[in-house]
Amino acid sequence: MLKCSPFETGRDLHSPNRNLSPVTTAVDEEGRLVVGQCLLSDLAEQYGTPLYVLDETTLRASCVAYREALEKYYPAPSLALYASKANSTLAICNLIASEGLGLDAVSEGELLTALKAGVPSKHVVLHGNNKSDEELMLGYRNGVTIVIDNHHDIDRLEALIPSGGAPVRLMLRFTPGIECHTHEYIKTGHLDSKFGFDPDQLEDVLIRLKYLEWASLKGIHAHIGSQIFELEPHRDLAAVMADALELARGLGHDVEDVNVGGGLGIRYIHSDDPPSIDSWVQVVSLAIKEACLARNLALPRLLCEPGRSLVAPAGLTLYRIGSRKVIPGVRTYISVDGGMSDNPRPITYQSSYTFYLADRPLSYREEKVTIAGKHCESGDVLIKDYMLPCSKSGDVLVVFATGAYNASMGSNYNRIPRPAGVIVKDGRADLFQRREEPEDLLQYDLIPDRFIALG
Ligand SMILES: Cc1ncc(COP(=O)(O)O)c(C=O)c1O
Repeated sequence: MLKCSPFETGRDLHSPNRNLSPVTTAVDEEGRLVVGQCLLSDLAEQYGTPLYVLDETTLRASCVAYREALEKYYPAPSLALYASKANSTLAICNLIASEGLGLDAVSEGELLTALKAGVPSKHVVLHGNNKSDEELMLGYRNGVTIVIDNHHDIDRLEALIPSGGAPVRLMLRFTPGIECHTHEYIKTGHLDSKFGFDPDQLEDVLIRLKYLEWASLKGIHAHIGSQIFELEPHRDLAAVMADALELARGLGHDVEDVNVGGGLGIRYIHSDDPPSIDSWVQVVSLAIKEACLARNLALPRLLCEPGRSLVAPAGLTLYRIGSRKVIPGVRTYISVDGGMSDNPRPITYQSSYTFYLADRPLSYREEKVTIAGKHCESGDVLIKDYMLPCSKSGDVLVVFATGAYNASMGSNYNRIPRPAGVIVKDGRADLFQRREEPEDLLQYDLIPDRFIALG
């Protein structure tokens, strides 16, 4: 047992999305960073870098926060579904299912991961604006709820489901026309969106579904965006959802579920101030309840689909610092052994993160540096002009809040293998994702026979 003291004061243990670091973050007697009772520089030494680290306690705390808040504020059945696009691995899906949450998948790969991880299929929904026949059939055969995003989904299911086949549980996605103050690329609730039906099309599609024997419409869905700090858009969404519910039930559909999507933001940097999971769930629950009561509608089951706010705060990335380039009067670059292939968010969304030196987190930040990745791309910069304690080659750099949309959006750009992942708890670290080796990257390459043999 490491002798430690807490790292940050004022941490919200019940709502990890409001913290800059995992809830178990501490410093040992020598002032070095510890998460889950594991010394971070030891993890870097043992498993290599870059390394994704996941704090089991934080991840479970986020699941519990959603579950308990739904039970507390919503007077009818409810279920939080993990938006597995945030980070889809067997271990994470298994842990989330063990906390009683369901899951949202958007591809054959995510669906397969969920089912193999043991998520009960009745708690899985399949999304996607262009689902393949294979994806639809994998969903159908396993009895998961399929989210109808457009008429193409209906056409393909109509063609694929054998006559007399079991009905498929459906959910209907529409764009609620609510705009959020978030990055344009992750805004999906706007009317100009590739996802879901336009509200004007809703009645027609509801009528179409009524006449299809295999179609059993059980839910309606909308998602308004991601990394949202305001509660107002979610309050507004409730009225739009209740209108759609009233319309669907009025047309004779036995709709049980209202799914309000995900979107709650997290703290990446000190100035970020997201609402707690508890407040978000409270607002959503009360708004749905009131909107239904105002329309005299029996309360539906309330579903939500958090991704980022569940997994991001539990994750961190360890890098080793390598080269340094000083351009006098301009800037000092320090480079790490990963970058845009393990975390594409800075180059894609200009996202900011909080960085520490693993073994000197509390040292005075006296040097302004630009932290660059190792990829052959000038834009591969994790953060520009950032104050850090003086660092040297070989030091371990820690980036907090990388648990969502890092690994899952990662790539092999420059043929750089994907990092390993370890999950930590009570001084124990277990691999949940092995490190890719350069040789792994060649396994799907072929040289056509007609090419001239070399050597
Ligand atoms: C349909 C849907 N549900 C849920 C989510 C999860 O959102 P977040 O990670 O912001 O909670 C997304 C992400 O964009 C989404 O598209």
